[in-house]
Amino acid sequence: MDRITMAARLMIVSDLDHTMVDHHDPENISLLRFNALWESNYRHDSLLVFSTGRSPTLYKQLRKEKPMLTPDIAIMSVGTEITYGSSMLPDDGWVEFLNQKWDRKIITEETSKFSELTLQAETEQRPHKVSFYVDKTKAQIVMKELSDCLEKRGLDVKIIYSGGMDLDILPQGAGKGQALAYLLKKFKTEGKPPINTLVCGDSGNDAELFSIPEVYGVMVSNAQEELLQWHAENAKGNPNIIHAKERCAAGIIEAIGRFKLGSNTSPRDCADFMEYKLDIVNPCYEVVNFYLFYERWRRGEIDNCETYIASLKASCDPSANFVLPSGVEKTLHECLHTMKGYHGDQKGKRFRVWVDRVLSTPIGSNTWLLKFDKWELSGDGRYCCVTTGKISAKGSNPSEGCSWVNLQQKWLEGFEMKDDSTWFF
Ligand code: GLC
Ligand code: MG
Repeated sequence: MDRITMAARLMIVSDLDHTMVDHHDPENISLLRFNALWESNYRHDSLLVFSTGRSPTLYKQLRKEKPMLTPDIAIMSVGTEITYGSSMLPDDGWVEFLNQKWDRKIITEETSKFSELTLQAETEQRPHKVSFYVDKTKAQIVMKELSDCLEKRGLDVKIIYSGGMDLDILPQGAGKGQALAYLLKKFKTEGKPPINTLVCGDSGNDAELFSIPEVYGVMVSNAQEELLQWHAENAKGNPNIIHAKERCAAGIIEAIGRFKLGSNTSPRDCADFMEYKLDIVNPCYEVVNFYLFYERWRRGEIDNCETYIASLKASCDPSANFVLPSGVEKTLHECLHTMKGYHGDQKGKRFRVWVDRVLSTPIGSNTWLLKFDKWELSGDGRYCCVTTGKISAKGSNPSEGCSWVNLQQKWLEGFEMKDDSTWFF
């Protein structure tokens, strides 16, 4: 969190299931498009917040299944748990606040009287969240009766219905909206409220996000009836909330464009990597673009043409060396030569590459240190290298491009490739 010392240019607060993550797209196209856009254009001065109904257990599971970025903040269990950074440090202040007027035991007692309620998995029962399944046709009546029961027992709770099946009981002060309000207040106190905030969701537990003042909001095209209905009844006249034409993460990108919150061109939307020209030197973009090229090269989606390799060679210092995760040292030119032989070797296969947590630090007027996680999905294997490197601008004009000075990689624990003798980049 200390990474951003000034107010964030854009804070995206997004739900995961059926919003950031499209469970109907096994190729994860829109998620990968979003990732490339975020890492090349926003990571350095903006904040990514995931706000999910999932418990930490199911959230971590989803991160293993899908090519997801590391958010700056994770709000889990329907706004009852807030953690920071990749080490997921909990916000203890939030826990303390939620303890008021909350008694899990009474809730368990009262809910057991309702035969319509089926308890969800043990992992989804959290200190400030009790969750059930309930049939769509019975949801409204059960919610009303339950709410009366709990009120009689002196509890002040919030009951939320989502996805046409999930019923969550939380402290009144909890929920995705309240958690966001808490964060915004915290940023304001620190003197750095985000310049723009965009909330993104698809289902009932996201509705609260859209009622926070001064935020932009996108309901993705595939949003659930319950959210659309909430919107029709509560926020219809608000021009800052849209129902996107596109599904999931593509709907988020669409909203960035429609609200003019910054660039909405993902590097993945540019067919020819050599055509895209920048008006400033952006080392993060260089990283994203190189690995995109690498993916397309191995998938055989770009021509096997000498001009590409020559152009890449021109963007590496001839003496630039690369320490591979195995510890072997090569020159970057040697590695590019190796890559040449791998054109199309992943054609028709499940092969994707993305970068996460791209960080560039200037060290001098035209040189930057870079640090990022390079992920590779290959068949059923998933590999990650923590990568560091140095890059320099070739001249004072950004159109002259950049030149890699060196690169080093180390396996991220748990994501090593057993036989890494053929690994490159
Ligand atoms: C996620 C959680 C579940 C919750 C639902 C709706 O699916 O795992 O416990 O009920 O979101 O908030
Ligand atoms: Mg959702």
